[in-house]
Amino acid sequence: MVQSNSSDLDVAVCEVGLRDGLQMFNTPFPTAEKLAWIQAERAAGVREIEVTSFVPPKLVPQFVDAREVVQGALDTPGLTVVALVPNLKGAERAIELGVHRLNYVMSVSRTHNLKNVRREREESLADFKRIADLIRTLPEDRRPSLLGGLSSALGCGYEGRVPVADVRHWAMAYAEAGADEIMIADTVGYADPVHVKEAFRAVMADVGSLPVSAHFHDTRGLGLANAAAALECGVRRFDASLAGLGGCQFVPAATGNIVMDDLCFMLDAMGMRTGVDLEKLVAVREIVARNLPGTPLYGALARAGLPVNYRTPAAAA
Ligand code: COA
Ligand code: ZN
Repeated sequence: MVQSNSSDLDVAVCEVGLRDGLQMFNTPFPTAEKLAWIQAERAAGVREIEVTSFVPPKLVPQFVDAREVVQGALDTPGLTVVALVPNLKGAERAIELGVHRLNYVMSVSRTHNLKNVRREREESLADFKRIADLIRTLPEDRRPSLLGGLSSALGCGYEGRVPVADVRHWAMAYAEAGADEIMIADTVGYADPVHVKEAFRAVMADVGSLPVSAHFHDTRGLGLANAAAALECGVRRFDASLAGLGGCQFVPAATGNIVMDDLCFMLDAMGMRTGVDLEKLVAVREIVARNLPGTPLYGALARAGLPVNYRTPAAAA
């Protein structure tokens, strides 16, 4: 399994702005600029980046350059290259290129699954099993890790609150189908910290040693509070996007992911090692800004700067 060495980190952060953020924009973000963003963020210490999505380019034209972006990202030393895949066909395209981790997407909410990937959850799970089978046929050093993503897991723009029992059901289904990791995603920013703790604790107890990671959106301002709640449950991998780019065109009123720079600051201030240089990370926002003029960029750290005399507690220890 190809993964960057993260044994010296307390928490892994995965940049998803190039996928979750850019999928919202019909204006193409030039391939060379995507690669500049990837390289600059890697240089700032981020070790995992979801670089693209293997969906039909007709549906999401932003990812017409998926192949070139993956190839460029694979040339970036020390980077775990992640890609979203919604079905077997997407997984085949990603595997052929040598993507390190496949983020498979299925929604816990039936309505959102139908809107997003146009099929029943049972059909999504059947495709996931086909992908797990396909991976097992590959030589060991060419096997990507397979993450089972649960979108709209804590709330749905169509159905409202999603029962924790449903999240547990589909998480176990993924675990039994051969997932290497489960991700619980609050796609519409519906959750609060109490809800997060209930859902994550239940799923983590169910799936035992399988890692459970978190993907939060900041739609209602609770994103970082939710991340802190998940951290308390023992989650050690978080998705976030630089400057809070993000959303989902198939979810009414979905807004950006939690802000990568603010998440890294929170973790750093709490004494957790992320491997990220905060000032270098904030500087990468310039690449996003110059390519998306007029787009609001979020983030409190970028606005306020580091506190006076701030020292990374983990480095001082
Ligand atoms: N990559 C490229 N092409 C693909 C593909 C993929 N992953 N999956 C299907 N296709 C092609 C098929 O080959 C077929 O091509 P053809 O018309 O030339 O024969 C066409 O797309 C339709 O295939 P079908 O299997 O019927 O797909 P669909 O129209 O039912 O769409 C999904 C299903 C999953 C591909 C689509 O709904 C999807 O990509 N959803 C994800 C949307 C998204 O990005 N959401 C945000 C992220 S959470
Ligand atoms: Zn998302």
